[in-house]
Parts: sequence; C-alpha cells; structure tokens
Amino acid sequence: MVEVEDLRYIAAPMVNQSDFPFRQLTRRYGATLAYTQMLAPERLINDQDYLETHLRDLWEKHVQEEARSHMHASHRVCAQTTRNAPPVVVQLCGNDPETIVRAARTVQQHCDGIDLNLGCPQEHAREGHYGGYLLGRKDWPLVQSIVPVSTKIRLCQHAPDTLPLGTLLEASGTSWVTLHARHVSARRRRQGVADLQVVKELKDSLRIPVISNGNVRTWNDLQDNRTYTSADGCMVGETLLGNPCIFANIVPDPVQISLEYLELCREHQGCATIHDVRAHVRRFVEHQCSRKPWYAKFRVAINQTESIEDIESLLLTKVNRWRGKARRIKSTNDNSSEDTEQKEHLDPKGRLDDELTGLSLLG
Ligand SMILES: Cc1cc2nc3c(=O)[nH]c(=O)nc-3n(C[C@H](O)[C@H](O)[C@H](O)COP(=O)(O)O)c2cc1C
Repeated sequence: MVEVEDLRYIAAPMVNQSDFPFRQLTRRYGATLAYTQMLAPERLINDQDYLETHLRDLWEKHVQEEARSHMHASHRVCAQTTRNAPPVVVQLCGNDPETIVRAARTVQQHCDGIDLNLGCPQEHAREGHYGGYLLGRKDWPLVQSIVPVSTKIRLCQHAPDTLPLGTLLEASGTSWVTLHARHVSARRRRQGVADLQVVKELKDSLRIPVISNGNVRTWNDLQDNRTYTSADGCMVGETLLGNPCIFANIVPDPVQISLEYLELCREHQGCATIHDVRAHVRRFVEHQCSRKPWYAKFRVAINQTESIEDIESLLLTKVNRWRGKARRIKSTNDNSSEDTEQKEHLDPKGRLDDELTGLSLLG
C-alpha cells in the first residue's frame, strides 16, 4: 500500500538499472518509493525464467511478509524489517487489458502497486503500439479500460491533450499520475528541458496526487521543482544513476558509494547481472570523475571485470591510486607518475572538485 507521503521522493523506473540492490541504495539515502524497470506482461505470464528473475528482484516483499508472519516471534525485528523495506511499484507496459491484468496478478502479492507505462518512446514501443504511443486520443478508450494503480505519462503530442488525459485517468480510477514533462518525439528524448509548467497545470486540475519528473540534477533542483509545480512528489532517473544519494542532499565519494552498492549486490545475489552492476559503478564514478585524465582507463578496465570482486579490486587499487588516495601510504621520495598527478580536492561535504564544477555548469 502506497501512502501519499511515500510519493515525495521516487526512484524512477529504468530498464536494466532499477535492480533491487540499487533500489535499496536509493532508499538508504532518502528515496521514499522505488519503481522496478518496465516489465513485459506477456513474458510474466508465459516465460517462467523471466517471472522468477523478477520475483527474485522483488524479494524484499517476501522478507516483509515473512517478517509479518513471524511477528509473534520477534516483534522488534519485524518492525525494523518492515521499516527497512519501503514500498515498491512494479511497472508494466502493453496494450492488452486482459494480459496486463493477468500479469499484474502474478506480481501483485510482491509489490505495493502496479504502474502503467504510457511514456516509453523506444522503437519497440512504437512497433508494438504501447508506452508513449498510446497517448493519442484514439487510444484513450483502451487506456481507460486498463485502470492500473498508477500511470506514468509523457506530454501528449498535441500539447493541450495532456490535461484532459490526466482527467480521464483520474476518472478511470488511477491513484496517482507521474508526468515526465517531455515529448515522446523529442529528438534526444531524455535531453532538453522538461516543461514543468504542464506539471503545474496538471497538479492544479487533478485531485489525485501528481508526480513531477524531469530537470532534476541537484538537490536544489528538487526543491525548486516541487515549489514551482506544487507536485506531491518528484521522480528522478538519470541523475540518480550518478548520485543515488540526491534525495538525502549528499554527494557521495564515488568509490565509497560504489563499494556500498557492491556490498548490497553481494548480499542479494542474483538480482543484478554483472552487466548492470558494471553500468551502475561506471555511472557513479563518471558522475564526478568523467573529466579526470584517468577516466578513459577506468572505462576500459571496468569493461574487463567479470565479477563483483574484480570491480571491488579495481576500485580499491587502481582507481584509488589514480585518484591519489593511496599516496598517504607512499614514501615522500616516491616519484611515480601517480604522485605527480594533482590531488583531487575534497570540500568539507566530501564533494570533489569535478562535482562542484559540474554543479555550477548544470545550475
Ligand atoms: C536507463 C534508463 C532507463 C529507463 N527505463 C524506463 C522504464 O523502464 N520505464 C519508464 O517509464 N521510464 C524509463 N526511463 C525514463 C525515466 O523513468 C525518467 O522518466 C526519465 O529519465 C526522465 O527523468 P530524469 O530527467 O530524472 O532522468 C528510463 C530512463 C533511463 C535513463
């Protein structure tokens, strides 16, 4: 069950990036709700491996249920476990109401809500006629017949249609609407400025909660976004991949946060593929260090890793050395090339020079 206050800070659904360890990490640092990546309903019904993989990824709810059923045995542990497992929403795509409902039934015990993706701009969505390609008026009766718990939309191609679509979703029974305020057809779809004015208008015209999505790069953006739109919450995607602590107003040390994520992956084996794990760690490091002279070497090296241990070792040895972090244990007479590299400056909040520069550029 998702409460209105859970909607404040939301980790966006992201294909191959919304794995359980990553969702846990974002929650540790302030996310009040996390979405899974978009799942294919027909595969949940017909592909046992796919179903099992994604149920494993939702294991946190099993822990919750188990904790509840053992409440008499350990009341304190139960309360703790439940508090540590905030709500999760499973996102589905598709255009066949019956298939979507059947798929929803396969996961409903393991999540707190089912979201319908009405924003996917990809070619496969165009070909399959789902996601953002259902935003046109002719498909509204179909959309109305699906009635998910929540809906994530983009701006309609015909701009004035976005508000009536929101009204129609509200009337159909959806509990909240997230608006990623960019068009499906934008040339670089996630780039460019989101039109927060439409989020504000949608919030003014609906009674159900409205979530604003787009344009958040920093903690200040997050606050400005909510102040400007009056939305009930903000969903963040791309920036969260670089800084999973944005909802806590922290810019973490990239190596430390990578190690924390790897630890979660180790604890919850089988939720993220090595490909996804590499991608996360690359993004954490890239977020603050992409302009460092050693960043290209790091990219090559991480692509060659094959396990969590390989990635951990890369971070603790080479990356720390490249960053000058190993220097303290070196002799002052050591003239190795790393020693001549300029030491990164850490400000009192633990932010690196690069991050500060990045913030000023993005702000
Ligand atoms: C790698 C990646 C994968 C994404 N996958 C999904 C998805 O599965 N479902 C969805 O509704 N949106 C998806 N999105 C879009 C995000 O949820 C979000 O709407 C978008 O990135 C805009 O928010 P942002 O500006 O904070 O990144 C994805 C975005 C990224 C970067």
